[in-house]
Amino acid sequence: MSQQKALLLEKAKGAFVVSTVPISKPGPGQISIKVIAAALNPVDWKIQAWDFFMKKYPAILGTDIAGDVEEIGEGVEGFSKGDKVFCQGFFVNEMAGFQQYTSIPADIVGKIPSNIDYAQAATIPLGFSTAAIGLLRAQPEGGGLNPTFDPKVNFSGEPAIVVGGSTSVGQYAIQLLHLLGYSTIIAYASARHTDYLKSIGATHVIDRGEIPIGRLAEAAKKVANAPIKIAYNAVGDNDSLAACIAAIVEGGQVADVNPQAKNEDSGNGKRVFAIFGSSHHPPHRDFAGIQWKTLPNLVAEGKIVPNRVEKVPNGLAGIDEGLQKLKANKVSGVKLVAFPQETALSLVHWVPTPGLHRPVSFVSLGHQRTAIPTL
Ligand SMILES: NC(=O)c1ccc[n+]([C@@H]2O[C@H](COP(=O)([O-])OP(=O)(O)OC[C@H]3O[C@@H](n4cnc5c(N)ncnc54)[C@H](OP(=O)(O)O)[C@@H]3O)[C@@H](O)[C@H]2O)c1
Repeated sequence: MSQQKALLLEKAKGAFVVSTVPISKPGPGQISIKVIAAALNPVDWKIQAWDFFMKKYPAILGTDIAGDVEEIGEGVEGFSKGDKVFCQGFFVNEMAGFQQYTSIPADIVGKIPSNIDYAQAATIPLGFSTAAIGLLRAQPEGGGLNPTFDPKVNFSGEPAIVVGGSTSVGQYAIQLLHLLGYSTIIAYASARHTDYLKSIGATHVIDRGEIPIGRLAEAAKKVANAPIKIAYNAVGDNDSLAACIAAIVEGGQVADVNPQAKNEDSGNGKRVFAIFGSSHHPPHRDFAGIQWKTLPNLVAEGKIVPNRVEKVPNGLAGIDEGLQKLKANKVSGVKLVAFPQETALSLVHWVPTPGLHRPVSFVSLGHQRTAIPTL
């Protein structure tokens, strides 16, 4: 078999279409994975809306992958065909998740433990990596709290805050802080998530429906009752950053998911850094290697639990609608997960796809059926 279905972003800021494209072979050090589950992330709709990261179009997106090892590249050890694995996709077509087969460097692939399924596993890679890089990885790229995942590291007695506690990333940040032994873990989230966030390690949930972001720092300091040295901002807007900076003590730090985050008042002795949450990023690679060896055990032991899953129907064709839900802020506390192998060929058309090999067929999404380009 040499062909597969993939969700193509036709051009910069263009439409998503399901097409048939060749399957790439794994390069040296890579494994090819049959993608069973692929989670949706804000970055996917943001790339479509704003055009960044992707150097070539048509582009295949998707950064959260779970599936079966299909083929092993040269020099790879420790994996066999059929192993159940999970990993992060990257912003090049061969390594993306919104297709039926992908190829990923084996050193940043983990084996799925038997206590979770493919869909649950697909909720973990990007969210967990972004939380782990922000909190654990050595400075200056991370918070430096535990770069080797040493189980003896302990911050007992200290408080920490996660703004956006119910986001996918925030849920993993809470769990990591819990693993690090923080005594007080404050999550800022909607009250309806309180029980769940407490079940994964939050000690206090400040209701964002009751306490506006401008009063969060004051409320958090009251709860913490000790200097807060670390804040994780999983929301990433200016107001949430200002709240994090106000909540921490001088000498403390804010890990922020906004790639542009910086401390405007840089003389105040508080460190703000932007997280690039990718295991593929060369400077993160050593840390990511340790992460992907450690993570499956943490999941198997129940120390890291996946996000709750909302299934996206219609295989790759359902992803566009899911991304629109994410964009409209209609996803709360769960991760949307699609199943690329469930993609059906409902319409077959022919379109040119420069930059990719010639497709053999093309499936347009429901609302795009009239726009069929020709040669
Ligand atoms: N820098 C990186 O490498 C990187 C990596 C991954 C993600 N990100 C970014 O990180 C952010 C979170 O991503 P995600 O996938 O974790 O998001 P997500 O799970 O899709 O976020 C949805 C949640 O956001 C919460 N939320 C929205 N606005 C909020 C606010 N003002 N305060 C508190 N909570 C708020 C909602 O909470 P309620 O329902 O409780 O109201 C909802 O549960 C996104 O902006 C994403 O682009 C960056």
